[in-house]
Amino acid sequence: MNFIRNPFSLKELSVEEPFCDRAVEMKELASHALNFANVVLYSPRRYGKTSLVKRVQNAIQGQGIITIYVDFFGVGNLEAVANKFATYLYSYCHHDENLFKKAMRLISIWRPVIKPDPEMGITITAEPTTQINGLALLEETFSLFGNFIKEHAPGFHIVLDEFQEITELRESKQIEGILRSQIQSHRNVSYFFVGSRRRILLDIFNDEKRPFYKSAINYALGPLPKEEAVSFVVERFSSAGKKCSPEIASRIYDKVRGYPYYLQRIPYSMYEISGKTVKDEDYERALREALQEEKPLFQAKVERLYPVWKQLLYALSGEPVASPLSTAYLKRHNLSSPGSTQPALKNLLMLDYIEKREDDGCYHIVDPLFDLYLKQSVTVEG
Ligand SMILES: Nc1ncnc2c1ncn2[C@@H]1O[C@H](COP(=O)(O)OP(=O)(O)OP(=O)(O)O)[C@@H](O)[C@H]1O
Ligand SMILES: [Mg+2]
Repeated sequence: MNFIRNPFSLKELSVEEPFCDRAVEMKELASHALNFANVVLYSPRRYGKTSLVKRVQNAIQGQGIITIYVDFFGVGNLEAVANKFATYLYSYCHHDENLFKKAMRLISIWRPVIKPDPEMGITITAEPTTQINGLALLEETFSLFGNFIKEHAPGFHIVLDEFQEITELRESKQIEGILRSQIQSHRNVSYFFVGSRRRILLDIFNDEKRPFYKSAINYALGPLPKEEAVSFVVERFSSAGKKCSPEIASRIYDKVRGYPYYLQRIPYSMYEISGKTVKDEDYERALREALQEEKPLFQAKVERLYPVWKQLLYALSGEPVASPLSTAYLKRHNLSSPGSTQPALKNLLMLDYIEKREDDGCYHIVDPLFDLYLKQSVTVEG
């Protein structure tokens, strides 16, 4: 059978996969990395942060920089923060025997454990070799890492992805303090702190009472630019032998406002259902399918909210506004009082469900399909 694989990808993109634009971001971020500046890279979910930082790391490796990527997603306790760091460090160094030996000698409180793995070949984890634990273990790990980096003059680039997860831990304040004091003495390193809970992440770096205050450049990753995104969609279809007009690709772009994940998700379904030439109805059906598929996730997002938060969310979906606490708006949407709506607004921002947009100064729903879902469920309910 002559199977042509769907040319759209819904997973984190490897450095070899087709990638739309981000040329300016690549250049600026690589430059910050080579200058050993620290960066907070933030955007809504599924905007391509992880795919992008991996490309930046790939690009600067040629300059002799050692690049390490650490994902803090789901880090459940303090020890796990140190453990993840040691694990990713050993996994990277494993490719270079000298470096691996150096890491074992200098990061002596962690021992690499190598196990065969049927899928990956091997997996590497790290085990502590010391009795110290808790905050002292974290401090010692980063302090020893400080010694390690001194021995590699070209320098390091460290990505700490989903960095905001540390705020979920009981000892988060002390963790921030330790990391900050250790990291500031690391001269030839650039740290990228990456995450999608924008308020939570930015508060770590922009609240003057917190240790990381003003220690990194704030870098927002925006939507994809229209012209490039439209060409990307058209070209991807053509690479797999199908024709999609720029007009249809534009419709997708406008519907999802350049949201990178949906610019692959909707065409993915369109590719599956269309013939040689993509038609308008293929787009419409693909949009319905994508929405249907995301529905359980959206339902769960709504169900976890208190009634007032929910009500405000539906209100902002139906009518984005600059001042949701004004008497007229509260009245129009049956919201009881500014006193109870104010915390709802704050929490929806913290969850990154809503954002205040610069173009019109209004609060909007961040995710365009979630917005569509909210609009439709109001219609169904009402
Ligand atoms: N420049 C791009 N070109 C094409 N597709 C992209 C691009 N950036 C992101 N995507 C799409 O978005 C998806 C999400 O990418 P990625 O996982 O890197 O985002 P993220 O911002 O790290 O997400 P999360 O916040 O969930 O960690 C990719 O699977 C891909 O479909
Ligand atoms: Mg990511």
